[in-house]
Amino acid sequence: MFRAEQSAPGGAPAHAEFYAATVRRAAPADLAALVALERHFPGDRLSRQSFRRLLQSASAEVWVYEEAGQVTGNAVLLCRSNSTQARLYSLVVHPQHHGRGIARALLDAVEHTAAGRGCHRLSLEVRADNAPALRLYQKAGFQLIRQITDYYEDHASALRLEKPVASSK
Ligand SMILES: CC(C)(COP(=O)(O)OP(=O)(O)OC[C@H]1O[C@@H](n2cnc3c(N)ncnc32)[C@H](O)[C@@H]1OP(=O)(O)O)[C@@H](O)C(=O)NCCC(=O)NCCS
Repeated sequence: MFRAEQSAPGGAPAHAEFYAATVRRAAPADLAALVALERHFPGDRLSRQSFRRLLQSASAEVWVYEEAGQVTGNAVLLCRSNSTQARLYSLVVHPQHHGRGIARALLDAVEHTAAGRGCHRLSLEVRADNAPALRLYQKAGFQLIRQITDYYEDHASALRLEKPVASSK
């Protein structure tokens, strides 16, 4: 469990006092919030049914960022028990909360989880035209593996990125 005491943007405390933000594993009760956040995902979106399956799957881990009782971001990790390769399947932050380090916090949680499950590498696909996400991943140490043309429903290209994770097994 990752927990951070945060002040409001700009350094001023919210409501005259600090509030807690938590990165935690998603629970079935988060389903509606996960589906609502997915509206802000560019391109192919995960359905309610997909999230329900992911929440029950032994090879998936869904993480959420929660602040003041509100889920403002989520990340989905896929990691099969017999594989050393993990995949970041989805990452989204509510637009009202962009630029506050929420994606970075979720990414850290996902990397720790992948390492804890014995994975050595974390991979992902990102739209080639998604500049904010590319910057995030580049800054987090991901490297370009290859371009995949006609990857998304609208025929846009994807970039496959990867980074090593320090396995703790
Ligand atoms: C991409 C996304 C997840 C980033 O979330 P975020 O919480 O705003 O990102 P963070 O605040 O953690 O930013 C971490 C780093 O990412 C980069 N970054 C994030 N947003 C950026 C932007 N709009 N422009 C340039 N760089 C950006 C920066 O390097 C930033 O570090 P810095 O602030 O120290 O410079 C968010 O924009 C989003 O949800 N987009 C829609 C969904 C999506 O595209 N998901 C990724 C699919 S693979």
